Amino acid sequence: MDPHRPLAEASALAPARYVEPDTYAFELDRVVATGWQVVAPAGLVSGPGDLIARAVGGRPVVILRDAEGALKGFHNVCAHRAGPLATCDRRGARRLQCGYHGWTYSLDGRLVKAPEMQAAEGFDPKQVGLRPIDVEEWAGLVFARAGDGPALAEVLDGIPGIVGETGLAGLVHHTARLYDVAANWKVYVDNYLEGYHLPFVHPGLTRLVEYAKYTTELGRWWSLQRSPVPADSGPYAAGEGLYFFVYPNTMLNFMPGRLQTNRVVPTGLDSCRIEFDFYYAPGAEGRAEADLAFTDRIQEEDRRICAHVQKGLGSGAYAPGRLSPEREAGVWHWQNLLREAYAARGPADVTR
Ligand code: FES
Ligand SMILES: [Fe+2]
Repeated sequence: MDPHRPLAEASALAPARYVEPDTYAFELDRVVATGWQVVAPAGLVSGPGDLIARAVGGRPVVILRDAEGALKGFHNVCAHRAGPLATCDRRGARRLQCGYHGWTYSLDGRLVKAPEMQAAEGFDPKQVGLRPIDVEEWAGLVFARAGDGPALAEVLDGIPGIVGETGLAGLVHHTARLYDVAANWKVYVDNYLEGYHLPFVHPGLTRLVEYAKYTTELGRWWSLQRSPVPADSGPYAAGEGLYFFVYPNTMLNFMPGRLQTNRVVPTGLDSCRIEFDFYYAPGAEGRAEADLAFTDRIQEEDRRICAHVQKGLGSGAYAPGRLSPEREAGVWHWQNLLREAYAARGPADVTR
C-alpha cells in the first residue's frame, strides 16, 4: 500500500508487522530505541547523584543528575565486559560502579578506577568511558532516546502551545503503575489512537467524555485526541481531555487537574508493558483514588481487547481492513510514520 495514501482510501497496517520477528527487531532498534520517550518524573533525578535505571528499545540505560546539576544519560553497559552500572534507582550516588568486576566511573561517564589492570599493555583508562545517550527534561518529565533523530523540541513542537501554562503548572507526581498487555506494542498504540472503540470496549468512559465531540488533530510527530469532559462528576472536574500520542511510544493524557503519562515498552513480539505515571495539580489530589480505580478498569478493558486483536492478527485470516476517516485519523497518521521507518529497510517494505 502507498504509505501516503489519503485517509479516505487508507487501510490498516499489514498483519505480518505484528507477528514477524525481524520486523520486531527492526522496530526495537530503529523506531523505539531512537525515538524520544518519557522515562520518568524529573523528581526521581532531582539531586546530584540521583539515578534511574531503565531500558530504551530494550537497551539498558542509566540516567542521572551529575554533580553540577546537569541531566546525563549513558548506556548502562560497562566498557570492560558489558556489566551493569546500575540495576535499580538510587539517590545521591557519588560514582557509578560496575556490579561485575568493580570498574568505577565518574558521574560524567569517565572511567576513574579499574582494579588489577596495571599489566594490561596499552590500556589507558582515560580513553575508556560510558557511551552517552540523549536525555532532556520537559515540563517536569525526563525524556530519553538512544540514537539519532530530530530534537525533542521539534518532536514536541506545537504541544506546549496547546497545553498552555495551566496544563502543567505545579503538577506533582503521585503514583506509578505498570500494566502488562499480551499483544504486540503496536496493537496497544493503535488502540490508543482512536475513540472508535469507546462505545463497545469502554461504556463507562463513553458516558464520561462526549463521544460525539471527539476530535483528532495531527502534528508532524504527534497526534491529539480531544474531548469535552462535561460534568463535574466521576474522577474528573469539568473541562477538556487532551490525549497526545508522541511517536513512537509516549502518551500524555491531560484531564482537568491531572496529567497521566504512558510509555509503551515492547517486551516481546506479542507482549508489552505500559508504564503509567500520575500527576495532579495542587488541590486535585483528592480525585486520585477514583482516577486510579477508573484507570485500572479502562486498562483491563483495553488489555482484553488488545489480546484478542493480537490473536486475530496472527490468525492468518486477516487482511488489512479499511480505516474510518471519521474516527481513525490518528491510527492512519502513526501507521504512516511507521511506514516511513520501514521504508528505510528497502523498497519492498514500503508497500505494507
Ligand atoms: S564488566 Fe564491568 S567491571 Fe567487568
Ligand atoms: Fe481503550
